[in-house]
Amino acid sequence: MRVLVIGSGAREHALVLAASHDPAVTALACAPGNAGTAAISEQLPVDATDPAAVTALAREWRADLVVIGPEAPLVNGVADAVRAAGIACFGPSAAAARIEGSKAFAKEVMRAAGVPTAHSEVVDNPAHIDAALDRFGPIWVVKDDGLAAGKGVVVTDDLAKARAYAVTLLDGGHRVVLESYLDGPEASLFCLVDGTTVRPLLPAQDFKRVGDGDTGPNTGGMGAYAPLPWAPDGLVDDIVARIVQPTVDELANRGTPFTGLLYAGLALTADGPHVVEFNCRFGDPETQAVLALLESPLATLLHATATGKLAEQPPLQWAPGAAVTVVLAAEGYPGRPRVDDVITGADAPGVLHAGTRRAEDGSVRSSGGRVLSVVGTGEDLEAARTNAYQLLRSVHLPGGHHRTDIALAAARGEVTVPGGDQAQAAANG
Ligand code: GLY
Repeated sequence: MRVLVIGSGAREHALVLAASHDPAVTALACAPGNAGTAAISEQLPVDATDPAAVTALAREWRADLVVIGPEAPLVNGVADAVRAAGIACFGPSAAAARIEGSKAFAKEVMRAAGVPTAHSEVVDNPAHIDAALDRFGPIWVVKDDGLAAGKGVVVTDDLAKARAYAVTLLDGGHRVVLESYLDGPEASLFCLVDGTTVRPLLPAQDFKRVGDGDTGPNTGGMGAYAPLPWAPDGLVDDIVARIVQPTVDELANRGTPFTGLLYAGLALTADGPHVVEFNCRFGDPETQAVLALLESPLATLLHATATGKLAEQPPLQWAPGAAVTVVLAAEGYPGRPRVDDVITGADAPGVLHAGTRRAEDGSVRSSGGRVLSVVGTGEDLEAARTNAYQLLRSVHLPGGHHRTDIALAAARGEVTVPGGDQAQAAANG
């Protein structure tokens, strides 16, 4: 099987790496890729958001499977174009990708499917913002309705800050989604979906704030771990039954079946799991941790998903233990990142590249905000953390910064679901 992965982040590096271990894969390419994917796959230039360009590339390269990593190409209809050319494609149609592309649409689907989520209102008129904010908070949750690379949410107990962000969005022509605050630890559950059948991967947790102790602005994600030692028994089955399957069924009933990876971002509240957001693709950086533990052949699974044959696949196999990923970000990130710094130690196994490029002098240079992810595995979270941070010490990026507390609370047994047994009973109905 010839597999073409579209994208250029550490998520795509993780996808390419996992696909490279699948005996069914005979050729592997990444477009446009980065310095890390270039070391293990063919590197092909492309505008990843251009449906015609990706389709032409997939034809020319004779791809049997195209795997689309990021959300922007999916929302832009790249998967539709590739499928229309008769090539199997892992990733939803533009119509189904609206589950991420419009938070208002996602809320409407969830309402129709009876899926638990925060109460919300959409505001598109600046004259209505103050009255709407009065109906929420504190704490205020203010979201950009459209795509924002994980950075479009402000959660604050400061009304002035909430208002300022809402006004900035409206002034920029974006609709605002206000939500009630959901209290409880967050979890990410990735599910393979072939239109009807759902197969969950290991649950994970990511860290969105830039600083230790969940301080500072939101980022695309500064680290993650999997699985969740603190998760109540039956959590994954419950989320699939009450949240993911009803959403998949609702999209199918509307004539826009979801094919690809449905990412449920959840808050585990005292009233059971509630959806914070849906994404239409693998999450970054959780994928780097989750795929480090996957033993089943990834490309075979993604092909089965893309061709409606997921139910025929055997149960997924996972390595025992845990995985932790820590993101090394450039100076200035999540604001304006400094680029073109020389990175050393980035060729080590377990280092997944994101914002990197190979310069003409052979050095690896930074080219984006999240520069790379290191991944450590171990018999438990503590061991995986130790291995990840040890690996990170061997990588050097001038001005680079990272969090030091990824998976720390979970490793110490300090993460709890509010309500404990009560929450489980609520979740079980
Ligand atoms: N981990 C957050 C995201 O992928 O959107």
